[in-house]
Amino acid sequence: MSLQSRTHKQIAERYKGNLGYYKKKLSWRIARICVGFLAIAGGLIGVVLFHKHGAKSFFNPGPISSKHARFGNDCERCHDPALAPAADATPANFWQVMGDRFQRGVTFKGVDRKCETCHTQHSFHEPSVVENRSCSACHLEHQGSSAMKAVASQSCASCHNNRDIMQASAQKGMQLPKSAFHLRAELAQGLVFDLPRPAEGYTQVFSSFASGHPEFQFAREKARDPNVLRFNHKRHLEEDIPLVNDKELTCNYCHQPGGDGRYMQKISFAANCQACHALQFDVRNPELTLPHGDPAAVRVFLQTLPSQYEALALKKGKTNPEEVRTFAATQMAQLRDSAHVGKDLERQIFFTTDSPKPQPEQTPPARSSFKGCAYCHEVKPSPPGPPLVTKPAQIDRWMPHGYFNHAKHASVSCKDCHEAAASQETPDILVPVKANCVSCHSPAGKVGSECILCHSYHATPPAATVAQSGATISFKQMLLGP
Ligand code: HEC
Ligand code: HEC
Ligand code: HEC
Ligand code: HEC
Ligand code: HEC
Ligand code: HEC
Ligand code: HEC
Ligand code: HEC
Ligand code: HEC
Ligand code: HEC
Repeated sequence: MSLQSRTHKQIAERYKGNLGYYKKKLSWRIARICVGFLAIAGGLIGVVLFHKHGAKSFFNPGPISSKHARFGNDCERCHDPALAPAADATPANFWQVMGDRFQRGVTFKGVDRKCETCHTQHSFHEPSVVENRSCSACHLEHQGSSAMKAVASQSCASCHNNRDIMQASAQKGMQLPKSAFHLRAELAQGLVFDLPRPAEGYTQVFSSFASGHPEFQFAREKARDPNVLRFNHKRHLEEDIPLVNDKELTCNYCHQPGGDGRYMQKISFAANCQACHALQFDVRNPELTLPHGDPAAVRVFLQTLPSQYEALALKKGKTNPEEVRTFAATQMAQLRDSAHVGKDLERQIFFTTDSPKPQPEQTPPARSSFKGCAYCHEVKPSPPGPPLVTKPAQIDRWMPHGYFNHAKHASVSCKDCHEAAASQETPDILVPVKANCVSCHSPAGKVGSECILCHSYHATPPAATVAQSGATISFKQMLLGP
């Protein structure tokens, strides 16, 4: 400031008669030159020495996470010196890199390639993604020596809440073959209720689960349960339903959690229906039941009916062969009176949805007498063979794009999530809608609602994915572009 305030005249005054000023060997000035030289030389020697002998950890911006700690000091495992931008530092490159950084932030391409040397098959999310994120956008290193931080919802929202990206992805998705989109192997267990992908893909724009996250697809599209097994939840939860083992029929009588408690096991006839719907066909001999599960076996059973009665007689403690034969003959005759044995009995057994009610005086009173396979099943004639029973399609996974875990919700009543008691038809889908989850999984409900609570990111991909052209591209290409 003071310099600027001096006039040219004043400056000239200072050097008047002193034009050899810079030629004088002032000791102070010499010292300054020496210090400057030593500093530069020392720096250069330092660089050379460090390059040969120095500890790389000197440049380490922070501790490496626990899973990578084993090779944390081996910087080259993640940082490839050959890929450093300085390797080909031309002015053109410099401006390209600068422009790129301004638009997209720091590039991690070199690091990503290194991640992929150990973690193969991790770059894949959806084939319609227009530009994959760097691994380091979601998995932050050098943040501390514990486990890596959980992936933030913000990382997901950077695409899912960006209209331009999602529209571009929808466009790209429309040009891809259906086969390019496949369910994640880890989500698709057993029989999956896999609704067709919407024309625009799953590209709705939203910022969080509580606000904007789409209604679940089955509810949005009012889908129906394709199972042909007849079952009426409401009827079975009414008061007149008999007790089993002195207990009321509850959800858990039929629905038992699987091994890890995540999802429910399939229903089985033997464990869940037979106690009340034993396949009795002769009201006088309720002990005698048809085999379940195979129409051909039922036919064989009926063709060998006299010997079935003989076996029953033995079971009842009749040992005299004559007595056994008479018992069988009597039973056959009685059965012939109520139903026409032969094809007619078989037809009744397969096709009637109702059957003769047991007489009140008969013991033991049948709880719910047998009413023909068609009581529960879709049965179609198929002469000359036995009729065809359409196999019940029991779905294992209703929402394959999201995780769920029953065990983690053990404190919540089944009825709070499933409106089963109101359902009278199998086609009703009883799985809860989004509003149900939001009541807890939201800032207001005070339970976490991060995307990764319910979703994963990486798909387990097939070895290579078919690109638009039909040619196969590697995951590296998918991540880093062609
Ligand atoms: C497990 C892989 C891994 C190892 C090992 C590793 N780094 Fe990194 N490093 C990264 C990633 C990923 C980034 C990108 C920035 C981030 O995620 O925070 C990074 C960023 C950096 C940066 C830039 C810092 C910044 O804030 O921009 C430096 C400098 C660095 N690492 C030095 C080192 C040194 C020195 C070592 C060896 C002692 C090392 N790194 C070991 C993964 C690694
Ligand atoms: C030298 C091989 C190697 C490299 C390079 C490497 N990792 Fe790993 N990574 C591992 C191993 C080994 C594990 C532990 C796996 C396990 O326990 O199942 C791991 C675990 C992980 C995990 C799971 C961490 C957790 O806490 O559960 C993530 C995420 C991960 N790595 C991301 C990365 C990213 C991102 C990079 C690149 C910056 C990278 N890795 C580079 C070997 C590597
Ligand atoms: C958009 C965010 C995102 C990007 C980008 C991303 N990941 Fe992940 N990654 C995740 C999420 C979410 C998980 C699951 C974590 C969880 O469930 O706790 C995960 C899990 C992992 C795991 C551990 C579990 C497993 O599946 O083995 C590894 C290893 C991993 N990622 C490596 C990578 C590598 C390598 C890249 C880059 C090629 C990458 N990730 C890019 C979000 C991302
Ligand atoms: C690079 C952009 C991008 C990022 C980052 C991203 N997604 Fe996606 N995601 C997409 C696109 C595009 C689709 C639509 C796919 C289609 O066309 O059907 C999609 C679809 C989905 C779907 C529905 C389809 C399915 O297969 O399940 C889920 C769930 C999902 N993403 C979860 C996540 C989560 C969780 C994260 C964060 C860890 C995340 N996404 C990060 C681009 C991204
Ligand atoms: C007597 C056995 C029985 C009892 C008791 C029972 N269910 Fe079911 N449940 C079934 C059968 C059989 C199916 C498969 C047929 C169907 O989808 O309706 C089924 C299917 C379901 C499904 C998935 C299928 C869909 O369409 O959404 C849910 C959810 C369900 N039950 C919940 C419940 C709840 C909650 C209770 C208790 C209030 C309950 N069930 C009581 C037999 C039973
Ligand atoms: C917090 C809500 C919630 C509670 C509480 C709950 N469920 Fe579920 N249930 C779900 C969701 C979500 C699904 C769909 C899971 C899938 O298949 O993707 C489901 C699926 C089912 C299915 C279909 C098979 C399966 O596992 O996918 C049955 C059966 C079922 N639940 C029965 C029950 C019973 C019985 C109880 C009580 C012990 C119960 N649920 C408690 C939310 C809940
Ligand atoms: C009270 C209802 C009910 C009656 C009556 C009934 N079933 Fe079933 N059936 C079921 C249930 C529930 C399943 C699915 C669970 C299972 O396989 O145990 C099933 C499954 C089947 C299957 C498929 C088995 C498989 O391997 O998946 C066949 C075939 C079948 N039943 C045949 C019959 C025949 C034949 C009859 C008549 C003799 C009959 N059922 C009577 C309830 C019934
Ligand atoms: C605790 C006894 C009990 C159990 C267990 C039971 N039911 Fe029932 N079920 C009944 C009774 C009682 C009725 C009513 C009979 C009537 O009204 O004539 C009935 C009625 C039915 C009906 C006719 C419903 C209607 O809409 O009229 C079907 C179909 C049926 N049950 C199938 C099944 C299947 C499939 C299972 C096994 C998953 C099963 N039931 C388990 C007692 C039971
Ligand atoms: C509490 C659990 C939960 C949370 C938290 C959650 N989702 Fe979902 N999401 C689901 C379920 C369940 C579905 C339906 C899955 C199905 O239909 O198979 C779904 C569906 C989706 C879909 C497909 C949408 C469609 O059009 O059908 C996308 C994309 C998605 N979620 C992304 C996200 C992202 C991004 C976040 C974080 C901002 C997130 N989800 C948070 C449970 C959750
Ligand atoms: C009554 C409250 C309540 C409702 C309703 C509810 N949740 Fe949860 N949920 C919880 C609690 C509490 C946890 C446990 C959080 C924890 O363990 O940190 C949880 C955990 C979860 C988890 C994590 C499971 C794991 O493996 O760690 C998922 C996924 C989830 N819920 C999905 C759902 C979905 C989908 C719905 C709707 C169908 C739903 N929840 C409805 C309270 C609820």
